[in-house]
Amino acid sequence: MGEFKVHRDVFRDQDIFDLEMEHIFEATWIFVGLASQVPDPHDFITTWVGRQPVIVSRDSKGELHCHFNTCPHRGATVCRQRAGSAKAHVCPYHGWVFDSAGRNAGIKNQTQGEYHHNFAEGSHDLKKVARFGNYRGFLFASLREDVPSLEEHLGDARVFLDLIADQGEDGVELLPGAGLYTYRANWKLQLENCLDNYHLTSTHPSFMRIVERRKKGDSGHALETSDFKLLDGTVGGGFTFPHGHAVIWHGNATPQVRPLYKSIDKVVERVGEVRANWMLGVRNLSLFPNVQFAENISLQMRIIRPLAPDLTEMQIHCVAPKGEASEARTYRIRLYEDFFNSTGLATPDDLKVYEQCQEGYRVWSVSEQQGYHRGMALVKNGPDEFADQLGISPATSVSGNFEIQDETIFHGGYREWLRLMKRAECTLADR
Ligand code: FES
Ligand SMILES: [Fe+2]
Repeated sequence: MGEFKVHRDVFRDQDIFDLEMEHIFEATWIFVGLASQVPDPHDFITTWVGRQPVIVSRDSKGELHCHFNTCPHRGATVCRQRAGSAKAHVCPYHGWVFDSAGRNAGIKNQTQGEYHHNFAEGSHDLKKVARFGNYRGFLFASLREDVPSLEEHLGDARVFLDLIADQGEDGVELLPGAGLYTYRANWKLQLENCLDNYHLTSTHPSFMRIVERRKKGDSGHALETSDFKLLDGTVGGGFTFPHGHAVIWHGNATPQVRPLYKSIDKVVERVGEVRANWMLGVRNLSLFPNVQFAENISLQMRIIRPLAPDLTEMQIHCVAPKGEASEARTYRIRLYEDFFNSTGLATPDDLKVYEQCQEGYRVWSVSEQQGYHRGMALVKNGPDEFADQLGISPATSVSGNFEIQDETIFHGGYREWLRLMKRAECTLADR
């Protein structure tokens, strides 16, 4: 009781990393993109489920698909672009052709090929992933059949996706362009950081000082943005959900600086006052294991792709309601650039400390982390009054002053990590 132990080997050990790829990233639901990234027939994006390349596409009838990006002939990836539109993908090696539904649409020189009739009768299509699901335009894939339904997997964390999707009458979209970068540290540092209020004042003091200078008029840069100083005394908290998802939230003393504020009357009409207030509050949502939506100044989507125990690729996007008024859209982009972008005032600070943690993990004689104990005396199982506002039943709830900067919020993710990794133990025992 009162303890939560995380061993540093989970951040630095190659064997553990390999097991994570097999038993987490290639075994549970993984976020693969937004339906609005492939709005029209034949649009596609390519991405990864664990180590495996996939194509998400919309066929001629508008149906969504997720196939492995590997040619059945000799294995080449059939699509090399990150995104685009194509009625057909032509394999660059021997020219086999696949349509936007993943069906084989041509085998080069088939008639002259002296194929056995068995070959002609078999399928030469791209292979589908085991499971593909769509929750309100948020797309997920699983390489294993034996996962719960996507709805069950997301559980009540779905409400926090609703709080994003409902910001626009027709949902949300990504702004053109994406940030793509790597950092030299473990993927779980990003997983944690999204839920980590404790680091804000110590990792990002320069951002806060800049905001202060702007308020005093000492800066030529007049962007009006949230004042994190107002957090002192603000009520906030967090919820964890089964399957590793979690969200931190707190009130927003300056809702008027949000792009959404400009259309809030319409939002209230659509979703009611309670949910509209939650939309204007600060919410950082982490869906285990690979996607996060951070809404504290602008709205950012982050996709985490682990490459090695000490190397992670991040893909980041600015998210906005479809049909947003141009003034609000411009303001959203300026806020996003200011704080979230890889060149913004927050992200480089975070990446630097992730890399410093990874460097610190080289000290093999220290094995246990002490960073999962704040809030332990306060955390409660089940919903609190704030969960009741949204009608959700989280696994745990914490709420109170912002200064608690709760660390029990990480427990849900590590519990799911352990549940999935225990299946590795069974597999190893069978070997
Ligand atoms: S590997 Fe694709 S056609 Fe040969
Ligand atoms: Fe940060």
